[in-house]
Formats: sequence, structure tokens, C-alpha cells
Amino acid sequence: MPELEKTLYSGYIAQGNTVDRFEKELSSFIGCQNCVSVNSGSSALHIALLLAGVEQGDEVISTPLTAEPTNTVIKQTGANIVWADIDVNTGNICPDDVERKITNKTKAIVVVDYAGVPADIKRFKEIENKYDIPIIEDAAHALGASFNGEKLGNHFNFTIFSFQAIKHLTTVDGGALCIKNNELFEKAKLVRWFGIDKSLTRKENNIEVQGYKYHMNNVNATIGLVQLRYIEEVISKYIENGKYYDQWLADIPRLELLDYYEKTEPSYWLYTVKVEDKPSFIRVLNEKGIAVSDLHKRNDMHTIFRDSKSHLPNLDEYEKSWVHIPCGWWVEQEHREYIVNTIKQGW
Ligand SMILES: Cc1ncc(COP(=O)(O)O)c(C=O)c1O
Repeated sequence: MPELEKTLYSGYIAQGNTVDRFEKELSSFIGCQNCVSVNSGSSALHIALLLAGVEQGDEVISTPLTAEPTNTVIKQTGANIVWADIDVNTGNICPDDVERKITNKTKAIVVVDYAGVPADIKRFKEIENKYDIPIIEDAAHALGASFNGEKLGNHFNFTIFSFQAIKHLTTVDGGALCIKNNELFEKAKLVRWFGIDKSLTRKENNIEVQGYKYHMNNVNATIGLVQLRYIEEVISKYIENGKYYDQWLADIPRLELLDYYEKTEPSYWLYTVKVEDKPSFIRVLNEKGIAVSDLHKRNDMHTIFRDSKSHLPNLDEYEKSWVHIPCGWWVEQEHREYIVNTIKQGW
């Protein structure tokens, strides 16, 4: 609150130095060079798609197992979504199926690290190089997760994060886009603010690219800067809880844990298990006071995506069993013990 008061009374509440500081500190946390803050993860994704050159009629390969904005934003560009199936062992988009779906119309591939579990980054890096098609990593769930010792945000042409209310880090609403290419980084800054270059006066400006009102402001950035002071500690609580479940839920009949790809370290935004008789699992745990759900509707079931309909046998299979159990920073030792013991009693 004191930090917010300072910003609010300063009179400078639009995008200014505080946003610059937030970007700098966020880049240093992620370990990336080029990080553009914006007003939402959706805006970050839209900018990434535009910079990848996605236009009306192009194809973008994506996964239906994600929060809707991943795919509504692709739709917003006028591109056609081509669904790739998931890997049933991880719930993440399957690289082999992505390769099968690539055509000469494919302009970008969106890879989601669902629930904070990194996708098969090694394989997707190979695909990005082999086909020269930019990968946009939607790491909205996966701040602080890593591959090969490097945090997400460093592996693909584009990576987006969301700082919406319930993410690992929140600015109330907000997002960021990490970009490898320096020229595209400069362009991203224009696209997020009407196409206007903030380092010049309005009179000196000549708008050459279509821009949007996607910038972050000093108020949200102030919240982000305070959140960043605690982010290591907060994320480590998610990770501790995730690892606790990895250990204590192994070998429970009728329950299967997810696999993680080699050299990946999840940040466990949600904890996913696969169970037999999912409706009963949800009902029994809910009755015992544990919030359990299969949070997201598979996106291909929404009418807006009907044109992309395709056969996704792995997702059909996964759908029957996947469910989330609580694992956020608020889950203490006594809670997670209670959750594990309750699951062990059966459903
Ligand atoms: C996987 C995923 N991608 C993108 C977004 C969009 O982020 P935002 O809500 O900040 O626009 C979300 C947000 O909920 C998300 O969960």
C-alpha cells in the first residue's frame, strides 16, 4: 500500500519510469534480454502473433487444452486454428502431432505450458529451427518454470506471461512478452502503444505500424514491483507442494501422475492427476472440503472454434481422467497431508 500511495499521489499513473523498472526487474528474474510489459497476457499473445506475421487466412497450430484466451486471441487475428493433439502423459501439446499438422500455410505454433508444466521444449526448439516457423510459448501458467537450467522466456522466438489476478505473480491484470529478436523487440514497443514511439514527441512521430492500447501503467507496475520482491518465495511454495504430491501420490491405486519432460522444472501453477472415475473423485473430495476440478473446458468444444474441429484421440482419452488438486502458495503442510490422506482413503 505505501508503494501504491506513492505512485497514485505522484500524479504519474500512466506508463512511465515505474513500468521501465518493472520490465528491468522482470527481465532480470527471467534472465532474458528483451521483455515488454503489457496490460494482459492476451495482449502479449496478440502482439506475438502479429510480429510472427500471422494474418487472415494463415494457419496457427495450437492446443485445445488451455484457457480460452490462448485460442480466442489466435482467432482475433483472422487466422485458422489447427488443433494438435496432446501427449497423454503430460497433457501438453504433442510435438509429433504438431509436425504432422504443419503445412505451407502454418505461420506460427502456440505451445502452452499447461498448469505450469513445461511442454517438450527440446523437441519444439528443434521444430522451430527445422521448419523456420516461430513458436510462441504461452507460459501464462509457468512463470519460474525452467528447461535445462534456464527459465521459460529464453527458449523460443516469443514467450508470453500473464499477471492476471490468480497467476504466480499478479499486477491485478497485466502481462509480458519476451522476444529474442532485437528488431522485433523495438517493434513490439510500438505495437503496444498505438504505433507511437514514446521516446519521441507526438510531432516527431510518424505512425507506420498498426498499434493498440496494450501498455502497462505505473499503478499495475508498482504492484508488480512489490510482487517481484517475494516471487522466489511464492513460486518455491508452489514447487514444494508439487514435489510433495509427486512423492506422496505415487503408487496410489486408480491414480496416475503426469510425466515431466527431461531437464524441465515445473512451477506447478495447478497440480494435475489422472484418476479413474473422475466424477466420483471430484464429488468425494469436494464433500471433504477440498477444491478439486477439471478447471478448463477443452477449447475445441466452443462453437467459435467449430471450423477447426478434428479428431484428437489422446485428448478424448485424457478428458476422462484429468483433474486438478490444490497446490498454490496458500496450501500448507497440514492441508497437503489432509489432501493426500483423503485421496488415500479412496473415492
Ligand atoms: C494459458 C493462458 N493463456 C493466456 C491467458 C491470457 O492471460 P490474460 O488473462 O492476462 O489476458 C491466460 C489467462 O488466464 C491463460 O491461462
